[in-house]
Amino acid sequence: MSVIKRPDDMQRITNVELAEKFIEEQVALVKEQVGNKKVLLALSGGVDSSVVAALLIKAIGKQLICVHVNHGLMRKGESELVVKVFGKELDANLVYVEAEDRFLDLLKDVADPETKRKIIGGEFIRVFEEEARKLTDVEFLAQGTIYPDIIESKGVKAHHNVGGLPEDFAFELVEPVKLLYKDEVRVVGDALGLPHEMVYRQPFPGPGLGVRCLGAITKDRLHALREADAILREEFDNCGLAGKVWQYFIAVPDFKSVGVRDGKRYVGWPAIIRAVNTEDAMTATIEEIPYEVLKKITDRITHEVEGINRVVYDLTPKPIGTIEWE
Ligand code: XMP
Repeated sequence: MSVIKRPDDMQRITNVELAEKFIEEQVALVKEQVGNKKVLLALSGGVDSSVVAALLIKAIGKQLICVHVNHGLMRKGESELVVKVFGKELDANLVYVEAEDRFLDLLKDVADPETKRKIIGGEFIRVFEEEARKLTDVEFLAQGTIYPDIIESKGVKAHHNVGGLPEDFAFELVEPVKLLYKDEVRVVGDALGLPHEMVYRQPFPGPGLGVRCLGAITKDRLHALREADAILREEFDNCGLAGKVWQYFIAVPDFKSVGVRDGKRYVGWPAIIRAVNTEDAMTATIEEIPYEVLKKITDRITHEVEGINRVVYDLTPKPIGTIEWE
């Protein structure tokens, strides 16, 4: 990551006109930097990498090769959205890697959160590297680095995402949004025509659902988590909380309790709701979800999701709790 300072007089991109001007400038700069060479990009489907992908597709079309690694820890529908938007609508050069089994095999019986993070981060790099080695004539690596990443690279976020490509992989970096703040990246994403759900996506940790399927991950519990999380998101969309709450998700611990379903004993996992508001993720407060919404979510999750028989709401602010459970 380059060490760079945003010029003091750089105008904040707040509307579509300013975004279009930025896009035009960056398209010219990227064309000049890259010429007719190929550029590689790890496309997670997050805001930053998606905006970089759309910008580079505009600048250099099929010279950009996007690699989307589905590690099996994505939320419901996310990988499908990447394929729909980039593979189909934008007709990008997209390599889709289905790697769920690879990741879950490595994570089998691993309960320690930091070890899980290291395995997920390390394997991600390996899969990406394998795909990169299959390609020829790639001289550039595009990254969705944004300005807060540069400012915070020595700070709290540093421990989160592990690893980097091996040293013999000497790519020149293409980082077109590195001087932008998150709100500006979103305005640019809108101007590039990316879907709202992609541009206004809430923050999602690199290790994905891996740190929300608490303890040692199993396929069935991961599936239950993904389905419960999708219901939470759907109900937040329906009642207008989606645009208001900073981050919300489900965590599923690896213990069961007894319950009753269809007149029979039903042993299942609890689904824990987390819904927090924050400025910078260093401290966080709890959203006061209306009781009716909580009841509806509880009803749907306990009836629709196989394996879950209780829903609880985590009322703990940060500090003393962290936002994630692991
Ligand atoms: P905590 O749990 O530390 O989370 O209060 C603060 C913010 O960071 C996100 N988070 C991560 N992001 N890789 C990431 O890219 C990670 O390993 C990771 N762990 C936590 C979390 O979702 C919250 O927004």
